[in-house]
Amino acid sequence: MMQFPKIIQGGMGVGVSNWRLAQAVSKLGQLGVVSGTALDQLFVRRLADGDPGGHMKRGLDAFPFPEMARRIWQEYFVPGGKPAGALYTIAPMHQRRDLRKVIELCIVSNFVEVFLAKEGHKNPVGINFLEKVQMPHLSSIYGAMLAGVGYVLMGAGIPLHIPGVLDAFAAQHAAEYKLAVSGALPGQDTQMLLDPADYAEGPLPLLHRPRFLAIVSSNTLATTMLRRASGRVDGFVIETPTAGGHNAPPRGKLQLNEAGEPVYGQRDKVNIAELRTLGVPFWLAGGYGNAQKLREALEEGAAGVQVGTAFAFTQESGLRSDLKEALLAQSVAGTASVFTDPLASPTGFPFKVAQLAGTSSEQGVYEQRKRVCDLGYLREPYAAPDGNIGYRCSAEPVANYVAKGGKVEDTVGRKCLCNALLANIGHAQTRKDGPVEPALVTVGDDLHTVAQFLAPGRETYSAADVVKSLLSLTVSSSAAAEPASTIEPILAIA
Ligand SMILES: Cc1cc2nc3c(=O)[nH]c(=O)nc-3n(C[C@H](O)[C@H](O)[C@H](O)COP(=O)(O)O)c2cc1C
Repeated sequence: MMQFPKIIQGGMGVGVSNWRLAQAVSKLGQLGVVSGTALDQLFVRRLADGDPGGHMKRGLDAFPFPEMARRIWQEYFVPGGKPAGALYTIAPMHQRRDLRKVIELCIVSNFVEVFLAKEGHKNPVGINFLEKVQMPHLSSIYGAMLAGVGYVLMGAGIPLHIPGVLDAFAAQHAAEYKLAVSGALPGQDTQMLLDPADYAEGPLPLLHRPRFLAIVSSNTLATTMLRRASGRVDGFVIETPTAGGHNAPPRGKLQLNEAGEPVYGQRDKVNIAELRTLGVPFWLAGGYGNAQKLREALEEGAAGVQVGTAFAFTQESGLRSDLKEALLAQSVAGTASVFTDPLASPTGFPFKVAQLAGTSSEQGVYEQRKRVCDLGYLREPYAAPDGNIGYRCSAEPVANYVAKGGKVEDTVGRKCLCNALLANIGHAQTRKDGPVEPALVTVGDDLHTVAQFLAPGRETYSAADVVKSLLSLTVSSSAAAEPASTIEPILAIA
């Protein structure tokens, strides 16, 4: 019989759920998930910082195509790290047909993150991607599969075509993915393609097909995934609008409350009874980061819960320690405040933002930042008048966006998440004229309750503290008394 984790530590980009956090959670027998978003850029910054601890090098040494690993090390490693205040080198932006060096960097960086998360134990590790960030999909997934990733989890869009990609790579075939292009003309070629044979340095390695979990927020979407996906969907994460990160927009016409946040109603509620009839495992997410909620989820027939916010503040997470400390202090003091911003994200999805001085959650900090688009993960591909595919981001300089056919009203309140999220994890870009990219922290409403994981007199907590606390009402008292690493192991899944 198959066994599933009761706790999925949700993917948190960019680099919040890094290999350290995922490794810690998977070692405890639950499912650790690394964020796959912008891993290539993060990898370049870790190498630019001199690869403290030598972890990236260890991952590169394990990579099955050594020439590719060597090229990347030679291009991006800075011995001793770049001088403080010097600019980070930027890896080229993604496009439908990426340059070979961009594809290689993506394959390698995804491999290394999963490889490191799997070190020192035999339990599965997952990787999370956002469907909307499509251009790196094929190379990222291939890299993660080369490292033996156990689960691929994807939301922020409708990931209908991902299961087929997993099947293709597991069968040693090329995989295709149709890029969503605004205003694409009938017959316009929008396919992306990755043939592993073009990259392997020798016979193609045999790969396992990871399980695929779609992150959805409605019964309709779950049913659609099962009916129309290009391959097997192994389960669902059902995410409610209290979750950290991006939220699904409310159904129907967007209405805002007095504070300016989207209003969710009855139509946005997921019918769990109906979900059970689909016959696939599901995990509940969004405010499920405590023992009582895990118990409730299990009683409702869920395989378990997916938790993000509680893990974002663990010692192992990639979030900058000053940001962790400030927000944990707010949680302790009962002064935490989370705003569901309907405008901030260039994806157009509502985005949850912790209100914190000195970050772009403050209007003044946001307005002081000069608009720059140099990372481009959230760029929207569009059909340009010359018949080519162009790329634009609603957080880029307004004149550029409008010159590319974007609507000026779509630029209002947009924030550069690419640069902010890298700043959140200690890799902020410094600009030529001096300023440093400001942070912008996403968290769920559970920020109000994360102080529960702090032992008396302590100012930090670990992934093990969260796992142990969450399981405290669901495992038998004898099992609960065992060391955390023996609680609820996931059995090998073939
Ligand atoms: C800091 C942070 C970053 C997140 N980034 C992502 C992401 O990149 N992709 C994703 O699917 N979900 C993301 N999420 C959502 C989590 O994976 C998870 O589903 C959610 O946090 C669960 O709700 P909770 O925050 O109430 O625990 C993020 C959440 C947080 C707190």
